[in-house]
Amino acid sequence: MSGRAEAFEHWIRTSFVQMNTELENLYFAQDNRAQVIGRGDPIKASLRDEGHAYVVALLAEGNTGEGFDSAYDVLGSVGLYLGALRRHELSNPAREERSPFPEASSLALHVGASLGMAPRFSTGHLTTHNRARAGIRKSFTSLADEFLFIDENTRGILALQRAADALTSIVHLGVSSPVAETMFDVAKQAIRDVIRINDRLLNQLDVERFFYCVRPYYKTYRVGRQEYRGANAGDFSGINELDLLLGLCRANDPYYANLLVDKMLFMLPSDQARLRECMTRTSLLDELLALAAGYGRTDWFQRNARAYLEVCDLFGQSAAQHHDGLVRRFIEQPAVNLNEQGLQGITASGPPLPVLLRALEELRDLRLAADRRDIATRHDDLAALRSAVGDR
Ligand code: HEM
Repeated sequence: MSGRAEAFEHWIRTSFVQMNTELENLYFAQDNRAQVIGRGDPIKASLRDEGHAYVVALLAEGNTGEGFDSAYDVLGSVGLYLGALRRHELSNPAREERSPFPEASSLALHVGASLGMAPRFSTGHLTTHNRARAGIRKSFTSLADEFLFIDENTRGILALQRAADALTSIVHLGVSSPVAETMFDVAKQAIRDVIRINDRLLNQLDVERFFYCVRPYYKTYRVGRQEYRGANAGDFSGINELDLLLGLCRANDPYYANLLVDKMLFMLPSDQARLRECMTRTSLLDELLALAAGYGRTDWFQRNARAYLEVCDLFGQSAAQHHDGLVRRFIEQPAVNLNEQGLQGITASGPPLPVLLRALEELRDLRLAADRRDIATRHDDLAALRSAVGDR
C-alpha cells in the first residue's frame, strides 16, 4: 500500500471512527434520535475536511498499480468516507443531482472501474475482507452494536459460503455419489451455524442503537452523477449459489435475474466469476427429479434425496428467520415511529420500505418453496420429491 493510501487507511481507522462515534452519541441523546441536520456541525466539518485532504492526495497520486488488495482497501476507505458524509446529511441524493464531493467521486470511480466493482463501499469491505489490525476491524463507529453487527454478518456470510462450497462439490461428484450425502451434511451444519448467528443477533443487538446509529451508514449515495444503492449482507455469491444449486430460485425468473444483475458489481470479482459459473449449472433439484422415475427406489436415491430435502428445510428456516425475525425486529418495527422525512432513504437499496419488504418476502417464499401461485416457487416439485422418499 502506498504511503498516501496507508495514511488515509490510518485516519479511517482512528479519527474518522472517533468523530462518527461522537456524532452518534450526540444524536442518540436527543428526544428525536432521527434529528441529524444542525447537530454537531463543527465535528461534521472536521470529518469532511480532514478526509478531503487524504482524498485529494490520493487522487493526485493516481492508481499506483500496487495490486488488488491495495486498490480494494482504497475503495473501501473512500466509500466509508462518502457513506459517513451521507449519514450526517452533508449530502443527500434526494437534494442533489450530483455528489457535492467531486474529488472523492473521481477517486472512487477510478478505483471501482479498475477493479470491476461498483464505485462505493460494499459488504466485503466491512466483513469478509476487513482485515483486523491488533484485533480492530474497520468500522464507522466504535459502538459495541456496530461491531456485533459486522462480526455476526461476517460469520453468517462465511457460513453460507461453506454451505455453497459443499453443494458445489456435489455438482462435480454427481448427486448419485455416496459422497454427496457427506457434503449435504456439511451444508446442513453450515446452515445450522447461520441460524445460531441470526439467533444471537436477535437476542443481543440493541434495536435502537442498530436502527439509529448503525443502519443509517448503509444508505444510498451518489458517486458523481449516479446514485448507488447501499451495501447489504447479501452482496456475496454464496447465498445465490445456494438458491440456484438447490433449485429454489432460477436465473431465468425475471425477478430473480434482476436481483442477480443488480448485485453483480457489489461483489468481489472472484465472487462474480463464481456466480456466473453457477448460473450455467443444472440444479440439484432438477437432477434428482430427473432421476426419480428410473432410480427412485434405490438406496442412494433415497439417502441423497432425503439429505437434499433436509438442506432445503434448514435453508428455508434461515430465510424465514432473516425476514420474520431480523428484518421485522430491526427495521420494520422501529420504522413505525418515523415520520415521512425520516423514512426517506431508510433502506439500503433505495425503494420505499413497503416495496423492499414485499421483495424480501418474495425471496423468503422462494427459499421456503411456499405454496404460492403468484410466483414461481418449487412447492410442487419439492412435494413430488418428498413423496418419492415417502416423506409427506
Ligand atoms: C440485524 C441483522 C440484519 C438485518 C436487520 C438485516 C436486514 C436486511 C435488509 C433490510 C436487507 C435488504 C437490503 C436493502 O435493500 O435494504 C437484507 C439483505 C440481505 N441480508 Fe440481511 N439483515 C441482517 C443480518 C443478516 C445476516 C447475519 C445475514 C447472513 C449472512 C444476512 C443476509 C442477507 C442477504 C443474503 C441479503 C440479500 C437479500 C437476500 O438474498 O436475501 N443478513 N438484510
